[in-house]
Amino acid sequence: MRFTKVAVLGFGTMGAGIAQVCAQAGLPVTVLETDAARIAAGRERLEAFLDGGVARGKLTRDDRTAVLDRVAATTEVAGLAGADLVIEAVVEELEIKRALLPSVAAAVGPDAVLATNTSALAVTQLAAAVPRPERFAGLHFFNPAPVMKLVEVVRALQTDQATVDALLAFADEVGKVAVEAPDRPGFLVNHLLMPYLNDVVQAYDDHLATAEDIDLALELGLGYPKGPLALLDLIGLDVHEHATANAYGETLDPQFAPPPLLRRMVAAGYLGAKSGRGFRTGLQEGT
Ligand SMILES: NC(=O)c1ccc[n+]([C@@H]2O[C@H](COP(=O)([O-])OP(=O)(O)OC[C@H]3O[C@@H](n4cnc5c(N)ncnc54)[C@H](O)[C@@H]3O)[C@@H](O)[C@H]2O)c1
Repeated sequence: MRFTKVAVLGFGTMGAGIAQVCAQAGLPVTVLETDAARIAAGRERLEAFLDGGVARGKLTRDDRTAVLDRVAATTEVAGLAGADLVIEAVVEELEIKRALLPSVAAAVGPDAVLATNTSALAVTQLAAAVPRPERFAGLHFFNPAPVMKLVEVVRALQTDQATVDALLAFADEVGKVAVEAPDRPGFLVNHLLMPYLNDVVQAYDDHLATAEDIDLALELGLGYPKGPLALLDLIGLDVHEHATANAYGETLDPQFAPPPLLRRMVAAGYLGAKSGRGFRTGLQEGT
């Protein structure tokens, strides 16, 4: 099974990035959005990213034009007909995704593979919303999609092997490296990342070391590109709290329980870079 036409649902941060990845690999893409203003915003996002690539010498002006020409957009589900791969990247709300997927499945037909880019919802639950759940899986890109090499292929309980194989091959074709990941909270990468970040917050709260030294130790001692507290500031403390609380709620595994200091910082509005205050942002060491 080799895909020849891709439909992307949502032209937001991830949808625009995923559309770019597919178009850069030579595949025609149609993006579904709710209205013309959202389409214009998505196109601007795509153009800005491509312009950055041209400025850095990563692609030529001709490549930029070719990529833009391969990306069409529509507000009508019927406009997705002919796609053999659908990648869903609409807002992270179960009911919105569940309402949209059956009509998209009907528009593209029974042979298409449907994939979701969800970060936190159960892929199995979304698969249950379509008529052929065996042809449904997670295809989890990381942000920014055109830059980040990894894609997780998430097997729902219902997903068949042919679908997993087709998505692994697709990831390779669009220049990504894929790993198979289980359908559990955080899939593989975030499943391992969440307890690590929680441990680090607790260690900081226990005065094991200053925030700066914790980050320095893990950067220089383990060769990590960014220290965990700086990473939390970048991700957003609220985003991490939400994800890890969700994982805790589902598993009751204490390693996912949000540490008390994280909860309090979020309650205080200290969300990291976006609020100007976090573990490594806008704080004096030792406060
Ligand atoms: N942002 C990230 O870092 C990241 C990383 C990996 C995965 N994800 C996942 O990707 C998905 C999208 O996230 P995002 O950050 O791009 O969100 P976003 O808010 O930037 O974009 C979502 C887009 O979906 C559109 N949309 C909403 N309902 C729609 C509908 N019925 N039909 C068509 N379009 C619709 C919205 O208009 C919006 O433009 C989520 O499931 C999220 O969990 C996000």
